[in-house]
Amino acid sequence: MAADKRGMHGVWASRWTFILAATGSAVGLGNIWKFPYITGENGGGAFVLMYLACILVAGIPVMMAEVLLGRKARLSPINTMSHLSAEYNAPKFFRSIGWLGALAGFFILSFYSVIAGWTLSYTGKMISGDFTGATGEMAGKIFGDLLADPVSLTMYHTIFIILTGVVIARGVNEGLEKTVRVLMPLLFIMLVLLMGYSMTTPGFADGFKFLFSFDASKLTADSVVVALGHSFFTLSLGMGAIMAYGAYMPQQASLGKTVITVGILDTLVALTAGLVIFPIVFSQGLEPGAGPGLMFQTLPVAFGSLPGGAFIGTAFFILVAIAAWSSAISIAEPAVAWAVEKGATRLVATMIVCGAAWALGMLTVLSFNELSDFTFLKGTFFDNLDFLTSNIMLPLGGLLIALFVGWFMKERAVAKEANVQSEMVYNIWRVMLRFVSPLAVLFIFVNGLL
Ligand code: PHE
Repeated sequence: MAADKRGMHGVWASRWTFILAATGSAVGLGNIWKFPYITGENGGGAFVLMYLACILVAGIPVMMAEVLLGRKARLSPINTMSHLSAEYNAPKFFRSIGWLGALAGFFILSFYSVIAGWTLSYTGKMISGDFTGATGEMAGKIFGDLLADPVSLTMYHTIFIILTGVVIARGVNEGLEKTVRVLMPLLFIMLVLLMGYSMTTPGFADGFKFLFSFDASKLTADSVVVALGHSFFTLSLGMGAIMAYGAYMPQQASLGKTVITVGILDTLVALTAGLVIFPIVFSQGLEPGAGPGLMFQTLPVAFGSLPGGAFIGTAFFILVAIAAWSSAISIAEPAVAWAVEKGATRLVATMIVCGAAWALGMLTVLSFNELSDFTFLKGTFFDNLDFLTSNIMLPLGGLLIALFVGWFMKERAVAKEANVQSEMVYNIWRVMLRFVSPLAVLFIFVNGLL
């Protein structure tokens, strides 16, 4: 049934366009906001090493598999999976990969938009020079005040969801591609400049040590689950975002090089963000385990003490907002593409998905103020949603994808579709996907959740 819909959403202009879009999806709040704060909460270097291992062992192999699936079927993830699991006679539950992913995307979008809203609010604060000469403590207070105010949070959350909806509704090719091409490199340059600043702070050595010295005693089963979950989150895996983008990838492009490029760029941005944030944490006597507010309490201090800092700070938060924006679009794309295949117009599909995510997002808004005392399992409503998506739904999706491509698709079809030039790379990938990635995910899962 769905075969006639193949390719209806369009194709990227080239392999490079795919790399840009996928990097736009991968690089986002996950790198600059989440990676530093979960590293802080999970004790530093040992966690970073686990995260890098997860990227290599599970992230990159699953990313290749996800792109491959999308490109093979050229449909939304939900239809891709029902189409391909029928074609290869795989058990019916593999179809659920698409549904699970769309649901995860809807959950993630709901809180992602709230946090992205904080970056919008900070853009305003930077313009008005709120942080000039601020200490860590002052920055902490300004952040606390923002969280305590559900009305502002709701306003920025609303603005961000609308911005996201506007681009999705118009399709990905036009607006986004061009923006990402210019702005991602700028973001990276800015991070490197900020690293120059952080190297001059007295806490640089401590920050560096915190990130890169390995102390195995700090590693708990829980932090390994978080590292795995984050490697999926940061590469946009396990929920169909990259599968959807893969569906728009040109046929002849080789999978290996393309995916590895995206993985390296994403990792570089995260590590650079860590090298900027932790030295400031230690110089200012802030807590590395401060949680979701970490970035919002450290970077303003840097900007507040730099000449021209208000200007640089403004530009920086705009760039982070844009990075979040290009990710948010990919989070919604699987559900929207599916609804379009079902016959909805893109506009209506976008309004439904974004509207529902906005409504659910209100619970995240309230998690930081009115409902902050209402905690269960992992903490507030936001903490639970974050844990459920990153640490359960995404790894589960990734596991099923690895099993499907590794064990159920015909080897010949996989080899042809992957179009990996080097035989060695292909063979390593195959072994990873069939054995190493699923076992790693299963092992971490079982250990962490029990
Ligand atoms: N990878 C994005 C980030 O790091 C978030 C994301 C998650 C995007 C899942 C798409 C799918 O911010």
